[in-house]
Amino acid sequence: MLRTLRSVVRLRRPEFDRTTRRLRTAANVDDLRAMAKKRLPGGVFDYIDGGAEDEISLADNVEAFRRVGFRPRVLRDMAAIDPSSTLLGRPLAFPFITAPTGFTRIADPPGELAVVRATGRAGVPFTLSTMGTRSIEECAEVAREGARLWFQVYTWRDRVRVRELVERAAAADFEALVLTVDTAVLGRRERDVRRGFTLPPEIGPDTFWDGMRHPGWTWRFLRSEPIRFSSAEGTGIGDGSDAVTLAEYMSRQFDPGLSWRDVEWLQSIWDGPIVLKGIQTVADSRLAADAGVAAIALSNHGGRQIDGAPAPFELLPDVVEAVGDRIEVICDGGVRRGSDIVKACALGATAVMAGRPHLYALGAAGERGVDHMLDLMRAGMERTMALVGSATVADLGPELVRLRG
Ligand code: FNR
Ligand code: LAC
Repeated sequence: MLRTLRSVVRLRRPEFDRTTRRLRTAANVDDLRAMAKKRLPGGVFDYIDGGAEDEISLADNVEAFRRVGFRPRVLRDMAAIDPSSTLLGRPLAFPFITAPTGFTRIADPPGELAVVRATGRAGVPFTLSTMGTRSIEECAEVAREGARLWFQVYTWRDRVRVRELVERAAAADFEALVLTVDTAVLGRRERDVRRGFTLPPEIGPDTFWDGMRHPGWTWRFLRSEPIRFSSAEGTGIGDGSDAVTLAEYMSRQFDPGLSWRDVEWLQSIWDGPIVLKGIQTVADSRLAADAGVAAIALSNHGGRQIDGAPAPFELLPDVVEAVGDRIEVICDGGVRRGSDIVKACALGATAVMAGRPHLYALGAAGERGVDHMLDLMRAGMERTMALVGSATVADLGPELVRLRG
């Protein structure tokens, strides 16, 4: 009996570091989401997690990947798998980009800086939002040599300010501009409406109790410097120091008159590549290619703008067919696993973009959470490539996937 017992009982070395312990139990992005949900105040979690109106597009973005399965090929020598690829003419460790997210510091005070460092280590590009809570210069300062930084532009009504931002991004060696084109007005995120959620979060009677129930977050939030739109500080444009609802801020500061003429204007003031983010039809993909931008990101803003917009992954085959020979196509929204990256690449995406995964990761375990999330994505991609029988990204093609059911 003793021998049998000895053969099954293994004493695991105790792990004293709480973050390591927590991350060991996070097997996937959904686990990180569940941890973030526990650790963040409800209003903060809902701002990150939620979508517009009935959240149909939000759910669809994720479901679209689940509706597609694989046709695995075997006996193809999978001894060496290489998930690396190129994007905008430069190499990246695997075809993944962190999407721009406003207010990143509400998930964890280091905010964008943690994501810049983690993406730098992982060898993938990082995108800073105009509504970012760390400035262009702060991000550049912590970026490692050769890191790829992109800047996402929301067009303020005051174009002089936009030009200044673009010049700062150029001076800080940002590689590309991402013009978000799906936000003429802000979508109606009803979770935020119900909570009266403001940014930065205001301490009122409800939020006070919420904060008390999440002392770790509240302590870190109160101890760190106030959350601001760092790139807007000192420009005379609202820098977010007064708590407002996002819808109010956006309609006051951003220009709903944005049109294809502004794309031309942006091209005239920026030498590098431009990515149009928020393209949602084949027709607009063609106009984007005609306009001569380097890439488009098919995106419905993570289901946060117009509810009922198609899932980007579903649009992918038609768009790639229409413009794939002229511009690079990025698939943004609903990516939760490495296998999703493989599916998108198989259907012609040059890369994928994801937003919530790094925010869940920050909420779950800060910077190390983001490292963990990026590891999950890369390792998941490598494993899937081995199991479908494609050792390189160039080998991924539509013959490897199938519509389920
Ligand atoms: C966003 N997104 C976004 N997009 C953008 O162009 N500028 C921004 O400031 C923001 N801010 C933002 C905040 C939060 C909390 C979320 C969740 C998303 C959209 C983002 O770039 C991306 O399109 C989506 O997140 C993609 O969907 P997934 O990956 O979250 O499913
Ligand atoms: C959002 C804005 C910041 O999606 O783009 O919340």
